[in-house]
Amino acid sequence: MRVGLLTGGGDVPGLNAAIRAVVKQGEGEYGHSIIGFRNGWRGVVDGDVFPLGRQHIRNVLTQGGTLLGTARFHPHSSDGGIDGVLATLEAERIEALICIGGDGTLHAASKVAEAGVRIVAIPKTIDNDVWGTDRSIGFDTAVGIATEALDRVHTTAESHNRVMIVEVMGRHAGWIAVTSAIASGAELVLTPEEPFDIEKVVKFLKHRHRAHASFSIVVVAEGAVPLQGSAMSYEAPVGKFGEIVAGAISERIKVEIEERTGFDTRVTVLGHVQRGGIPTHTDRILGSRFGTAAIDAISRGETGVMTALRGEDVVLVPLEEIAGKVKQVPAELLQVARALA
Ligand code: F6P
Repeated sequence: MRVGLLTGGGDVPGLNAAIRAVVKQGEGEYGHSIIGFRNGWRGVVDGDVFPLGRQHIRNVLTQGGTLLGTARFHPHSSDGGIDGVLATLEAERIEALICIGGDGTLHAASKVAEAGVRIVAIPKTIDNDVWGTDRSIGFDTAVGIATEALDRVHTTAESHNRVMIVEVMGRHAGWIAVTSAIASGAELVLTPEEPFDIEKVVKFLKHRHRAHASFSIVVVAEGAVPLQGSAMSYEAPVGKFGEIVAGAISERIKVEIEERTGFDTRVTVLGHVQRGGIPTHTDRILGSRFGTAAIDAISRGETGVMTALRGEDVVLVPLEEIAGKVKQVPAELLQVARALA
């Protein structure tokens, strides 16, 4: 069978582990030909393909990024995009497609599956907000990077008696923010799940600095928003490509804290550092398991499903169940972060 493979959306560490598993298991166990598409759905529409063989997957397990390249391009939201996908798949005689991506790529996958293409998807995003799976590839590495950064910020915050605001990724959900805050013992965490009241933030910091500390670390998810009707009004700026403007919310919070407390405050934006570098063993294993499960599923004739981690098990969930949903941080985890502040 000729099986197409693509990675779409933001890159994450652990993608190469999944690609490697698809190629090894696909060729070795089933004798399939794996066809790589460059730069996500863009490459499918443009017919940018190459036969993906064992020579491409040597020594990639430990490498971040994606050897296939990626792009934020969604065929269902561009004119003639789905037709372009179908034309390329026919021209290349692709019988099934494995798509590795986050919400946008998976939404596109469900649209292409509806058009009659056999598709199995694999979830990846450092934000860990894909519905239906306990974990997505990349999250574990990103939390490790954020935690290490927070540990480092801790010593400089303490030395200078400062409030340090550390912004992490998480557009719709605060998974990285909450877990790295708990792991590093940060004082406050602001997430999209719980819009914040700047007056409460300030009250907390004043109380802490009066009572027993001269520094604080505030972790801010990039998608954090102020509570409607609260003392801080804010309209999130949007970049040219629809992206969140890194640091915007944190700089705004810094101004509010400085004006209301007089505390010397600094902002550190971790940004794409969280998506780079060597994947943790957890992400390599998850990528390997999802890649293997995806090619197994394709070979059994499954379609319109996504590999997912549920507890210890890798299972398949229907793509239509996850489309349009965001997996937010559960109340219990938010409560732990609050309780230990
Ligand atoms: O979707 C994952 C994510 O890491 C978001 O948290 C962040 O807003 C976005 O990617 C940034 O993506 P880009 O690479 O397009 O700047």
